[in-house]
Amino acid sequence: MQKRLSKLLLFSFYLPMLTNVQINKEIELRVKELWSQYPFSIGIPVIDLQHICLIFSIIKLQQSIQNKLPPPNLQKDIFYIIDFLIQHFKTEEKLLSLIHFPQFDSHTKKHIKYIEQLRILHGNDIEAANVYKAADEILNVLQNWLFEHLRKDDQKYGSYLLELGEISTDYNKQLLEEVNIHNNHILLYQNITKDFSTFEINIEQKTILSIKEIWENKNLATDIPVIDMQHLWLIKIFVELDISAKKSGIIKRNEIFLNTLLASYEYVSQHFKTEELIMRNFKFPQYNNHVIKHRKFGEFLRLRNEENKSNDSMATYNLLQDLRNWIYSHIAVEDRELKIFLKDKIKDVNLFVKHINSKGELDFNSNQVKLYRQIVTPKTNQDSI
Ligand SMILES: [Fe+2]
Ligand SMILES: [Fe+2]
Ligand SMILES: [Fe+2]
Ligand SMILES: [Fe+2]
Repeated sequence: MQKRLSKLLLFSFYLPMLTNVQINKEIELRVKELWSQYPFSIGIPVIDLQHICLIFSIIKLQQSIQNKLPPPNLQKDIFYIIDFLIQHFKTEEKLLSLIHFPQFDSHTKKHIKYIEQLRILHGNDIEAANVYKAADEILNVLQNWLFEHLRKDDQKYGSYLLELGEISTDYNKQLLEEVNIHNNHILLYQNITKDFSTFEINIEQKTILSIKEIWENKNLATDIPVIDMQHLWLIKIFVELDISAKKSGIIKRNEIFLNTLLASYEYVSQHFKTEELIMRNFKFPQYNNHVIKHRKFGEFLRLRNEENKSNDSMATYNLLQDLRNWIYSHIAVEDRELKIFLKDKIKDVNLFVKHINSKGELDFNSNQVKLYRQIVTPKTNQDSI
């Protein structure tokens, strides 16, 4: 009964009219709901991260089936999940052997059984005309893994770990030596668990140098730390898209495009809110015109999403152009007007920022703070975050 109810909960998730970016965000919300609804957490961050990513991928596959995505997309989703699940079982089995889990053998046998079931379904039918039926069966196995294995079997070693009372950070460190964790997975884990201290977003040195170059050459500092921190984050989004768009193939480029768009949407909702709260509070004379410009940028993002949905090959290039124009015109010119207007009130601005932060109206994370500290050298204590 519980299993049936759980499956219904998962299947109750229909989003046929939403854009790709909204779908990803909605899937994230669904994962968040499931994660708080069921005792999925084991307490070892690497394992929790992998479980979260797998839940996300299962809901995404369910969406792809419901929306009847073309067979290559479905095959890609399925291949990705099976590959990830194999990696996860390997990590988990390493943990089980480290803690000398008494049911190691029976637990790993279950892992082998899931992989065998998936391999048979994947190998037999996925190339055939009936790809949707095969995908449905694969989804069934994965949902069984989710609600039977993750919710029940994995919890057994979770409880065993608690009984041992040993420090989970040590195990986490040992597991981390053997797994590669993608930045997007860290971001998803951080958004779901709000644990910002275990993993660090890895920004390549080449990217940091490009961000610094743009920041200094265009003289983009507003000297308002929270604004500068958010602007730097958008430059990072732009630089990463610029670098990867040049070297990636079509499928990878599409994934990068969607991640960039998602990050840009998040930026829009965080940053514009902050900037507009400050402008309103200090009665910035160009407030109305400035807000219109912000809304226009949101429209550009929606347009690029539409282009991408209709397979317009220029979508990535256009998005890159939009971000470039925004940094070099809006941030460099229009946001500078705010800098000039507030230059004698920086102390009051920082007090106001502290005040809105204490009311929970600011939305930023430790990754953004870290990037800010890597690029900006504070002139005074007021400039620090
Ligand atoms: Fe697991
Ligand atoms: Fe397991
Ligand atoms: Fe801005
Ligand atoms: Fe602005």
